[in-house]
Amino acid sequence: MRAFVVTIDGPAGVGKSTVGRRVAAELGLPFLDTGLFYRVLALAAAETHTEPEAAAKLARGLEIEINTEPLAPEDSWRARLGSRELGAALWAPGNSALLAKIAAQPEVRSVLLPRQRRLGRGGVVAVGRDTGSTVFPEAACKVYLDAPVEVRMERRRSELARLGMASPHSVVRDDLEERDRRDRTRVAGPLVVPQGALVVDTTSIPAAEVVARVLQRCRALGRQPIAPGSDR
Ligand code: DC
Repeated sequence: MRAFVVTIDGPAGVGKSTVGRRVAAELGLPFLDTGLFYRVLALAAAETHTEPEAAAKLARGLEIEINTEPLAPEDSWRARLGSRELGAALWAPGNSALLAKIAAQPEVRSVLLPRQRRLGRGGVVAVGRDTGSTVFPEAACKVYLDAPVEVRMERRRSELARLGMASPHSVVRDDLEERDRRDRTRVAGPLVVPQGALVVDTTSIPAAEVVARVLQRCRALGRQPIAPGSDR
């Protein structure tokens, strides 16, 4: 049977990870946050004072492991760089500009693409900017989540506060707007609505309802949620 792949794309702070994790848990699939690859790379580049233009070379030599367990506790590691476990540090706002520049490098994207695809081989719920358009263009179920920047800013602020990084409105807003602009206008892997995607504006819809809509679409495509207690 062909591996079942769900892709969830959308701008920063729209709730992709929250929804993606729950959908993955319900479907008994791994959860892949593709943004983690870029975040680990940006952290490594900042630490080694590597220019964005040299990030692809740096990426080739890095051993990056992503935690694909959808029910991983909030304080567990999200990615490993070699043997080093990384969590909240990956979301520190200081690296934002570098992160966006690195993600815009076509060569960086081509180094990371096969690694992302490999993690989806047996079926996956993947979230990011280009998962439906570029990483898994053959995905059975494609979703695009959207919400205005004000709504996403508030969500991102509460997320950062939960991670112990309270940030002022203006900083989070500027960061989101800048990343939106860069994500949408870059040449390689830009943020787009994939063809045939289920588009959901999450402004006034709770995450549980968005999850329910995605699962309904998956069911219509032949993938049933797992029964509680099942270990498929
Ligand atoms: O989803 P996120 O905010 O954690 O993503 C981190 C950065 O990586 C962000 O600047 C956009 C970029 N990204 C990307 O270019 N392509 C993806 N598939 C996922 C993330």
